[in-house]
Amino acid sequence: MSTRDERIALNNASGPENSGLTPEPHPAPAWPDLGPHDEAARAAVAGIAALLGRPIPEKETEPRTASEWLARTWKVNEAVLETVSRPVSPVLHLLYGFVLGRWIAAHADEVTQRGPERRAPQMARLDLGSGTGVTVPTAGTVLFPAGTRDEQPVAIETGYQFGDPFLTAHAMPGHRDVAERALDALSADLAADHPYRGRTLQAAAPGRLTIKPVTPTPQGRADLVLPREVWHEVDLFCAGVTTRRDTLRALGHSTSRGLLLAGPPGVGKTKLARVIATELKGTLTVVLVTADVLRTWMTELYEEVRTLGPCLVVLEEIDSVGGKDSRGSTSFGEFLDALDGARTTDDVLTVATTNDPGSLDPAVKRPGRFDTILEVPPPDAEGRKAILDLYLPPRAGVDTGLVSSFLDGATGADLREVARRSLLEHGADELTTDQVLDIATSGRWKPAPVAGNYL
Ligand SMILES: Nc1ncnc2c1ncn2[C@@H]1O[C@H](COP(=O)(O)OP(=O)(O)OP(=O)(O)O)[C@@H](O)[C@H]1O
Ligand SMILES: [Mg+2]
Repeated sequence: MSTRDERIALNNASGPENSGLTPEPHPAPAWPDLGPHDEAARAAVAGIAALLGRPIPEKETEPRTASEWLARTWKVNEAVLETVSRPVSPVLHLLYGFVLGRWIAAHADEVTQRGPERRAPQMARLDLGSGTGVTVPTAGTVLFPAGTRDEQPVAIETGYQFGDPFLTAHAMPGHRDVAERALDALSADLAADHPYRGRTLQAAAPGRLTIKPVTPTPQGRADLVLPREVWHEVDLFCAGVTTRRDTLRALGHSTSRGLLLAGPPGVGKTKLARVIATELKGTLTVVLVTADVLRTWMTELYEEVRTLGPCLVVLEEIDSVGGKDSRGSTSFGEFLDALDGARTTDDVLTVATTNDPGSLDPAVKRPGRFDTILEVPPPDAEGRKAILDLYLPPRAGVDTGLVSSFLDGATGADLREVARRSLLEHGADELTTDQVLDIATSGRWKPAPVAGNYL
């Protein structure tokens, strides 16, 4: 019996409806083009088919999901497609979109794209700071044919599931490695050429963790009056990733360091952190972190930071999370774990600020978490004079030495207020020592409510 006969025999044996009348199996019927009266014509044809006992052709539908589309394109069963999915953070979702956009551009003539749920592919803007940005794919599937990304065809799907972004690679049956490789390559390409590298980023948490490039005003050492010992410690801290980096690495030391700036409000801790950020910008990516991120998103933050390569993370006011009474809360443990995690990655510098190192849980101060706890003191008389000189017009000829002798205990922020109030009340041109002295000793510069009866 020929192969064809065998097939007929099998078919005939398969059911009573085939016996006698239909010697040949009919191919699955498909709808012809029924022109403008599509619906009515379909109903009529379906009726005739039913009368004849023939199957009603199924209307070819647009595939709904990426795997449905790929299964059809690759002519394989959808159930055996290889699919590797990874959840990603909203920030990484856009960043992987950036890399995917580059892959699409590199194979523009070969790739095929589809949107989610029969819609058009979706795009969003990735902010690159300084008014620049790029549009990147955020929902849809891109099919890279064999010979483009890999020897095998591979498709990258990006989108949201129940609001959470994900990234999926699909490959032909038996080629799970191709799908895995594609996702690894996306990560590697992002790490190799990160669009945020070398920039200053602001991490904030309006509901979720967001990281956006910002353009901070550069802050120099000349704008900040601090004792020489403080600057020396700052130099040592920076040396880990600048001049001493290779020495440390060659001898197997970590180049990651943590510096905790401690001091009362207004002594210039935030400003010092900004000066360090200005000095290391370019060498490192700078990530400025607000207190709300510290409380909730530390783990996620350091995960994202890891993709950035060498970076400086500035954590403001860690007493808001690391205080003694926060022990036992999950975010405190998370915070410590994240700090420890940062140490295992090379070239991550952390600068944190606190008003009161005494209130910090000893676990925060354990060696290894911060290498240095640097006390930033309020200025001495000489420092106070230098700060007044910084904020008062040089031409005014005010005896800043004399004024500062009346301001024992004042911080840099206080001194700036004295200068500001003096300029507000008297202008810059004819400012006298007596006027500034009067303001300094009267306490008018303090942000207290003005006393008086307004009625
Ligand atoms: N040592 C200083 N030299 C020059 N200016 C200073 C100094 N300290 C404070 N200032 C001025 O006061 C402003 C406020 O200081 P900053 O915000 O850095 O204080 P802080 O120590 O971070 O305070 P807080 O603990 O309240 O956050 C600075 O931007 C700067 O203008
Ligand atoms: Mg501060």
